[in-house]
Amino acid sequence: MKKSIIKGTGMFVPPNVITNHDLEKMLDTSDEWIKKRTGIEQRYWINQEGETGASDLGFEASKIALKNAGWTAQDLDFIIFATLSPDIMFPGSGCLLQAKLGLDSTPALDIRQQCTGFLYGLATADAYIKSGLAGKILLVGGEVHSSGLDKSTRGRDITVIFGDGAAAVCIEGIETDKNAGVLSSALHADGNIADALMTELPASRLPFRFPADVPLSDPRYFPVMDGPAIFKKAVRMLPRVINESLEKAQITLDKIDLIIPHQANMRINQALGQFLKLDDNKIFHNIQKYGNTTAASIPLALHEAIEQERIGKSGDVVLLTGLGAGLTWGSVIYKFL
Ligand code: ACO
Repeated sequence: MKKSIIKGTGMFVPPNVITNHDLEKMLDTSDEWIKKRTGIEQRYWINQEGETGASDLGFEASKIALKNAGWTAQDLDFIIFATLSPDIMFPGSGCLLQAKLGLDSTPALDIRQQCTGFLYGLATADAYIKSGLAGKILLVGGEVHSSGLDKSTRGRDITVIFGDGAAAVCIEGIETDKNAGVLSSALHADGNIADALMTELPASRLPFRFPADVPLSDPRYFPVMDGPAIFKKAVRMLPRVINESLEKAQITLDKIDLIIPHQANMRINQALGQFLKLDDNKIFHNIQKYGNTTAASIPLALHEAIEQERIGKSGDVVLLTGLGAGLTWGSVIYKFL
C-alpha cells in the first residue's frame, strides 16, 4: 500500500520583525505581559507598502520545499492551501499559488480550518494518496494576519499574538511495506462555539455584506476571541485527541519522539506537557520568534524541527496537534521512512 511520505519542507516569513516593544508604541500592552501570558517575543508582519498575500508567502515557502524534495512544480498533481486569511475573497489562495508556480491545470484546494488547517490538509493529502487520486502533493499553510488586526488597545488580546508566515510540505505516495508515513489522524470540530473566535464581517449572509451603517472601525471587521474559553478548551481537548490518534495508530506516547503543537500560546503547550507527564524537550516551541501563524504554525515548526535535527531520521515519530477557530482540533501521527 502507498504511504504518504514527506519529501521536503520549506518556510518563509516576511522580513519585517515586530517586537513586543514595537507593539507597546501602538497599543496599551507591555513586553512583560506578552511574554508572561503567551511566550511571544516577536513576530513577522508584511510591509504595509505594496501587496503581499498568503499565496505570496506560500509561494516562497513552496519554492524551498520543492527544492528540498528535489521536485519541480510540474511534478505536482495536487495542491492544498490552508489559510484563514486568503489573499482575496475568492478565488482561493491555492489557485493563486498554483499560477505563481507556473502551472495552469493542476487541481488546487483551499482549506479553511484555521489553526488546524494543516492537520486537516495532511489528513486530506493522506486520503488522496491512499485512494490513488494523487501521487505528489504540495500542502501549504500560509497567513497574512497583520493587515486585518485591530491595532488599537481594543484588539490587544489578539493583535499581540498573531504573526504572518507560511510553510510548505511536499508529500509523495510511496509503495512500501514499512510502517511509515501518516500513521493516524483524528480530527474534530464544534461549530456550536464558532463565535468564541471569529471575524464576523464582511458576511455574505447579510443582504449587503459590507453593511453601509457599520463603520470599518467596527470590531466585527476584526478577529475577536474569548481567549480564556479557548485556552481552557485547548487544555482539555488536546490530550484527548492525542490519545485518540495514539489509539488509532496503535502506539503509546513513549514511542513519540517529538510533539509539535500548534503555536498558539506557550502556556497551553507547557500545560499539555504537564498533563501528559512529558519532559519539555519532547515538545517543540518556536512561538517566541513567530507568534501564532495559525495554519502556518505547525508546518513552520515541523520545518524548523527537521532543520534542527530534532526529528527526521528514519523511524522517528512526530505527533502534530492543535486547536483553533471553528472550533476545530485534531492530531496527526507521522513516522519518517
Ligand atoms: N496586553 C496587556 N493586557 C492585556 C492584553 C495585552 N495584549 N490582552 C489582554 N489583556 C488584559 C485583559 O484586558 C485583562 O485585563 P483585566 O483583568 O483588567 O480585565 C487581563 O489582561 C487578563 O485577560 P485574559 O484574557 O484573562 O488573559 P489570558 O491570561 O487568558 O491571556 C490570551 C489572553 C493570551 C489570549 C489567552 O487567553 C490565550 O492564549 N487563549 C487561547 C488562544 C488560542 O489558543 N487561540 C486559538 C488559536 S488562534 C486561531 O484559531 C485563529
